Amino acid sequence: MTRFDDAAATVAAYLADHESRGLLRFITCGSVDDGKSTLIGRLLHDTRGLFEDQLSALEKDSRRHGTQGERIDYALLLDGLEAEREQGITIDVAYRFFSTAKRKFIVADCPGHEQYTRNMATGASTADAAVVLVDARKGLLTQTRRHSYICSLLGIRHVLLAVNKMDLVGYDQATFDAIARDYRELATSLGIDNVTAVPLSALEGDNLIERSPNTPWYGGATLLEFLETVPVDAPASDLGFRLPVQWVNRPNQDFRGFAGTVTAGAIKPGDEVVALPSGRRSKVARIVTAEGDLDVATRGQAVTLTLADELDISRGDVIADAHDPAEVSDQFAAHVLWLDAHPLLPGRPYWLKIGSREVGASVTEIKHKVDVNTQEALAAKHLEMNEVGYCNLYLDTPVPFEAYRDSRELGAFILIDRQTNATVAAGTIDFALRRAANIPWQHVDVDKQARARLKGQTPRCVWFTGLSGSGKSTIANLVEKRLAAMGLHTYILDGDNVRHGLNKDLGFTAEDRVENIRRVAEVAKLMTDAGLIVLVSFISPFRSERRLARELFDDGEFIEVFVDTPLDVAESRDVKGLYAKARAGKIPNFTGIDSPYEVPENAELVLDTVGESAEALAARVVDALLR
Ligand code: ADX
Repeated sequence: MTRFDDAAATVAAYLADHESRGLLRFITCGSVDDGKSTLIGRLLHDTRGLFEDQLSALEKDSRRHGTQGERIDYALLLDGLEAEREQGITIDVAYRFFSTAKRKFIVADCPGHEQYTRNMATGASTADAAVVLVDARKGLLTQTRRHSYICSLLGIRHVLLAVNKMDLVGYDQATFDAIARDYRELATSLGIDNVTAVPLSALEGDNLIERSPNTPWYGGATLLEFLETVPVDAPASDLGFRLPVQWVNRPNQDFRGFAGTVTAGAIKPGDEVVALPSGRRSKVARIVTAEGDLDVATRGQAVTLTLADELDISRGDVIADAHDPAEVSDQFAAHVLWLDAHPLLPGRPYWLKIGSREVGASVTEIKHKVDVNTQEALAAKHLEMNEVGYCNLYLDTPVPFEAYRDSRELGAFILIDRQTNATVAAGTIDFALRRAANIPWQHVDVDKQARARLKGQTPRCVWFTGLSGSGKSTIANLVEKRLAAMGLHTYILDGDNVRHGLNKDLGFTAEDRVENIRRVAEVAKLMTDAGLIVLVSFISPFRSERRLARELFDDGEFIEVFVDTPLDVAESRDVKGLYAKARAGKIPNFTGIDSPYEVPENAELVLDTVGESAEALAARVVDALLR
């Protein structure tokens, strides 16, 4: 075991031993100026006394598990990070731990500035409650709105409004009341139902742990009382039983169990269940745990189910109440918080991870983006880092899910970049879209093979990529002439031509180029399906979309040809006179000038147009094609 495993084991043991005392994860929002550090520091310090006896209990546990006493805070800190790691996001958020006789606490301390929105989202995604700090002298600020919006987006239902620095406004009740009123209005508009406002002075310790004599007009809870009593569990939802399968437990031929944590509802042996997305039904045979079989399992319990029938269920599937199952869909409306420096482009393929399932996905449409500071809806063609968009998503495969407001476990997802494997977005599902539901594939008797046989050829997609003026069209044209002379059936899709018809609504921004290539790839696929040899000649500057195109075809059917003409050569030829114009600033987003060209890494053919003639290169393409 590594030190990390050790520490994690210590935490697990500690939490198990103290199960009766619940754990509250909360997040603090506000800037340093609002007194956030003082508040957290004070809370940690003042609860230290209460914490002492738990500390010694934990020290004993730690020794028993072979970890040193000094490592305690570190170990518990790790626990905070564990959930984050499960989400696949690793971002700088400071987690702190403290404890009282009533509860254990993990507080995520997130920086306040806008560029740290992603950090805040990370902390908020696992939090049960939020403490929003406001300076009594300043009232609500832009960032109060931003933080509250992110909290509501990520499903935090309980907010403590800490009106801090009350000492600096002479503990004036009217000031406090006005801020509390303003905030309640904001919270209501964001759908945050439970707001507790507390007048505080973190510096003086007013209403932090004990009620302050300086605010005799205030009869509510102190900060700590709030933290000790705020409900941790999501309100009992009326969802039926749900068990997302973490792993399939198959120690021998006779036992096959599906292990996971119940996220909603309850289950008994004999209850009818359905496996999603397959839709196969069975009955629960046993509910197995390390402590023996259970008569009933409910939300939050980690169990292994065995079923009466042999169903093919794997990790990422959901076992649900057969009479009230989760939805299964491949299209959603969702909020997406973009976390990456490269913008989100509709149409680009990403991986979507929901629960323990990973599927291909793309954003088909950004309905609007949301100004995180004002919640205003704005038009958008792409999303930049830290922006939130309301989007339609399309998945390669239908998945079981829940609206995020009903279930964090089955309603939250992340998007992963396919090239870099980085987490690029966090999202929350709003509802399923039915646009393309009930559209089965139609069977046709004359299929691709039959059409190809009639033409006496093997369908292919030859994809020429390269800079404008690199010679793509010239070579494609020569290739087509040679193929036609051999009696083969071909078609050329050329960027310049297709942009006059099918794609005349598209320009040269990154998002339009993505859509340009997506459409052309789909058309090329239809044409190979018709039995043709298709020659595609587009700059197609991005690796992602060339890969998207490749994935539409069968193995060996797609031939990527990189027409490798250096920029200075293409520019000096300047057949269309476009480079001169681009250099003069008359054509924005020109490839190679102020818009990138990503060189292919795995092209089947690389053509050097400087060293060889177009005819010779065309002959090489034909060779490769007929091989
Ligand atoms: S792609 O990048 O979206 O694949 P496409 O191949 O369709 O581009 O179109 C490229 C052609 O459009 C170029 O050969 C050139 O004639 C013309 N063009 C006009 N503006 C631009 C631009 N900003 N960048 C590149 N090509 C442009």
